[in-house]
Amino acid sequence: MSGEANSKLKTQNSFSVVSRSAAHTRGWGKRLGRLLKGGEVIGLVGELGSGKTTFVRGLAEGLEVSTQAWIRSPSFTLINEYEGRLPVYHIDLYRIGSAADLAELSLREYLFSDGVSAIEWFERLPPGEVEAFLLVELAHVARQQRRLTFAAQGALYEEIITALGHRQKGIGARQ
Ligand SMILES: Nc1ncnc2c1ncn2[C@@H]1O[C@H](COP(=O)(O)OP(=O)(O)OP(=O)(O)O)[C@@H](O)[C@H]1O
Ligand SMILES: [Mg+2]
Repeated sequence: MSGEANSKLKTQNSFSVVSRSAAHTRGWGKRLGRLLKGGEVIGLVGELGSGKTTFVRGLAEGLEVSTQAWIRSPSFTLINEYEGRLPVYHIDLYRIGSAADLAELSLREYLFSDGVSAIEWFERLPPGEVEAFLLVELAHVARQQRRLTFAAQGALYEEIITALGHRQKGIGARQ
């Protein structure tokens, strides 16, 4: 495939923004959360402190999870469940040591449910475990800045990315 065709494909399936604060990153999570209808898998990739949990907090807000429920949730558990407008499963694979650990989590119950699964350290999931998902990559740019890249895998997620990208135009200077 030529470079041009490749980049054309990319603009349809992904886009990047630079977030200038934790609140800004939460805002992107919230915007995505509002677009979800149930059954989606959101994979988060990015080094320690890049803002994955910050983003998921916004996502939970967009899904109408109460702030209190979020604050009360333990940060050391691998899976936290919330009741929002849809069930929300916040899964953190950072402490996953082995395939056996992973099997014990019975992730499929969450991945193939009607709720929304948001998975930190998504790259630790065995390849092929989920075929369609929305990937959110976070990268440090500066102390308060992160590059957020949204990438779709599968037609449903392309639609979500397109809707999210359209909203980008309406954000303007408010944040
Ligand atoms: N633009 C930004 N977006 C997100 N977080 C930011 C930003 N600027 C600064 N921060 C800070 O970076 C930290 C991100 O922490 P967070 O727990 O969300 O990262 P994480 O990727 O989940 O880390 P871990 O891999 O340890 O789970 C927070 O302290 C947050 O306030
Ligand atoms: Mg985290």
